[in-house]
Amino acid sequence: MQYNVTVIGSGPGGYVAAIRCAQLGFKTAIIEKYETLGGTCLNVGCIPSKALLDSSEHFLNARDHFKEHGIDIPAPKVNIKQMIARKSDVVKQNVDGIAYLMKKNKIEVHTGVGSFVDKNTIKITSADGKESTITTEKVIIATGSKPTPLPFAPFDKKRIISSTEALELKEVPKHMIVIGGGVIGMELGSVYARLGAKVTVVEFLDSLIPTMDGTMGKELLKVTKKLGMQFYLGHKVISVENKGKEVVLKAEDKSGKAIELKGDYCLVSIGRRPYTDGLGLDKIGIELDKGKIPVDDHLKTKLDNVYAIGDVVRGAMLAHKAEEEGVMVAEQMAGQKPHINYLLIPGVVYTWPEVASVGYTEEQLKEMGKAYKTGSFPYKALGRARASMDTDGLVKILADKQTDEILGVHIIGARAADMIAAGVTAMEFRASAEDVSRMSHAHPTYMEAVKEACLAATANRPIHM
Ligand code: FAD
Ligand code: NAI
Repeated sequence: MQYNVTVIGSGPGGYVAAIRCAQLGFKTAIIEKYETLGGTCLNVGCIPSKALLDSSEHFLNARDHFKEHGIDIPAPKVNIKQMIARKSDVVKQNVDGIAYLMKKNKIEVHTGVGSFVDKNTIKITSADGKESTITTEKVIIATGSKPTPLPFAPFDKKRIISSTEALELKEVPKHMIVIGGGVIGMELGSVYARLGAKVTVVEFLDSLIPTMDGTMGKELLKVTKKLGMQFYLGHKVISVENKGKEVVLKAEDKSGKAIELKGDYCLVSIGRRPYTDGLGLDKIGIELDKGKIPVDDHLKTKLDNVYAIGDVVRGAMLAHKAEEEGVMVAEQMAGQKPHINYLLIPGVVYTWPEVASVGYTEEQLKEMGKAYKTGSFPYKALGRARASMDTDGLVKILADKQTDEILGVHIIGARAADMIAAGVTAMEFRASAEDVSRMSHAHPTYMEAVKEACLAATANRPIHM
């Protein structure tokens, strides 16, 4: 065999798996169909979206908040060309970084579509049609996911767009219609709302970011309404039509009452689907289960030498989940006994304020019939939040009614994305709400809201409320 391990796909699952395999002494190859490494996350996902979120946040602050801070500047203007160019530069720095890491770890990179010939042989077809084959003892499939289209209105990439095109627009839309009030809809919708677009979100369910704790969706609705975003919750989209310069959407609520929206762009963000096209899974007898590659608890497929990780298998479609799985598979191959606690994979929405969660939601605890108590603390009661004018949001702690063990941490507020790591740590070490409430938290910080919410949960005695 030429390689001990071959990884197909270079997203956060694939490239991290390859690095860990190389660290453990395996001769490792990685196959990526695109010229740049890093997959969805680095090229058209996590990184570019965060770059635009940051730029648009700067613009909003300069336009709406500098004056109150005592900074007088002429009315700022959006230079979308420069904003997109900076985003592309950030992407380049990151994907170049992965190429460097491949070299550093002596991982051989093959550019082209990888497909199984048999369980130990992979054909690589490059963009110009040239074919080559490699042989390998083990394979890790990390081929990721693609945006899900509406069945009746496929992406035309001009007016009916996915997140990929929304990261490359040449103008600020006049009216962006967003289908799906999930993570992408709220992140990219808020980017363009901040830049001055009218943004209307049409969501099938009755709440935003429906997989997160219900309180988070309600609060996010309030703060994004303040930003000017408009919402049609509980609406079923019936049709979307590209009429040249505009797109027309028709939807109806549960009572059948119809609405019609006209905009210049329609972002369809109704979820992503696992991607296995061209992989030749039929050659090794793997059948998909609801589009996903079936794996056991060790991320092994039905074949002993073939594993699958990341968006292409069950579980949350998150970069850090894919990374943990990459490490887990590599370490198993080396005979180690790694473990992932899926309950403690945090979820973050990078709106401003940010939303971040770990553990059980209140809805899940109710469904499980678990006896729990809650404690909340609002950002508006924090000195730190008043100083920065970030008073929107709250921390909500869910704890076991009998033992006080923390069961869930849910934050909407400034810097929630970074703060959630403290929730993960506390829960990983099975802390009680009282444990956290008795730890010193620096003053003034946003983290004081976590301490106060724990005080509220453990004994209903927050200090500053
Ligand atoms: P991917 O990153 O999708 O990588 C798969 C790679 O495999 C691709 O490069 C693809 O070209 C390649 N490939 C596929 N088939 C073949 C083949 N046959 N041969 C060779 N190569 C192949 N997650 C977060 O955790 N945080 C975020 O902030 C975040 N933001 C996001 C924002 C957006 C707009 C989007 C779309 C997603 C975001 N995600 C975020 C989700 C995150 O990008 C994915 O969960 C993550 O990229 C999954 O990693 P992966 O390695 O499984 O697959
Ligand atoms: P999503 O699953 O987060 O949200 C999709 C939303 O669309 C849901 O609220 C759903 O109820 C709604 N919906 C589904 N069908 C609909 C229809 N026909 N009409 C109206 N609404 C409909 O999916 P999204 O936002 O597309 O993102 C895909 C995935 O990418 C996320 O689930 C997440 O895993 C990942 N991602 C993660 C980010 C992060 O970690 N910050 C950022 C962006 C994406």
